[in-house]
Amino acid sequence: MLIDTHAHLNAIQYQDDLEEVIARAQSEGVERIVVVGFDRETITRAIELADQYEFIYATVGWHPVDAIDMTDEDLAWIEGLCAHPKVVALGEMGLDYHWDKSPKDLQKEVFRKQIALAKKVKLPIIIHNREATADIIDILQEENASEVGGIMHCFTGSIEVAKQCIDMNFYISFGGPVTFKNAKKPKEVAAEIPLDRLLIETDCPYLTPHPFRGKRNEPSYVKYVAEQIAELKGVSFEEIAQKTSDNAMRFFGIK
Ligand code: NI
Repeated sequence: MLIDTHAHLNAIQYQDDLEEVIARAQSEGVERIVVVGFDRETITRAIELADQYEFIYATVGWHPVDAIDMTDEDLAWIEGLCAHPKVVALGEMGLDYHWDKSPKDLQKEVFRKQIALAKKVKLPIIIHNREATADIIDILQEENASEVGGIMHCFTGSIEVAKQCIDMNFYISFGGPVTFKNAKKPKEVAAEIPLDRLLIETDCPYLTPHPFRGKRNEPSYVKYVAEQIAELKGVSFEEIAQKTSDNAMRFFGIK
């Protein structure tokens, strides 16, 4: 069994063929899918999907690129949704310094508010990091995020940063980029992450793994991530599938 711990089946890219996409995931052994919400529309749709499909779970959070749009009402709404039985984490949240729609200070404020909320409702967090590693680590430490733990989603950092995150009770999740031919560093790092701290994801519709790079991504392709990590660690595909699924069930509190 495989679990895609970060999928955006709530994205517009699936509006025409969601049923087929889900059927392909199931036929490839993907038995659970965590659909990640990051603004009003995608959170609403993530909850709808979790209500509709027994094997889909939802997360609720606010993306750092859109930090400037988040109101107090939005945060209160997200807090209310945390009581939903299939909301399994807060996020994605974090910092994104690649885009400048939201000023850095505002991104940090919205990030800190969401960590505080996670501690209040006792849910783990999912971190989006783009070109902001040092500030992310500082904030996770200052806000005692280790209290709830979390996932470094689609990790592309160094082994040193991975170890810092693991020390803070975080899991390291790999997606399509680890399969790219030229991805030397992610491959080296993935090989070194302890099996009990490893997760796999697609981040679909983005970051499609080799051999479908450039096409729309989907949860069935999480097997390519598992295959690549098995090869890097010199263990069987079945072992990676089992360990990452066990980790995901434990992390999200899924039975
Ligand atoms: Ni995402």
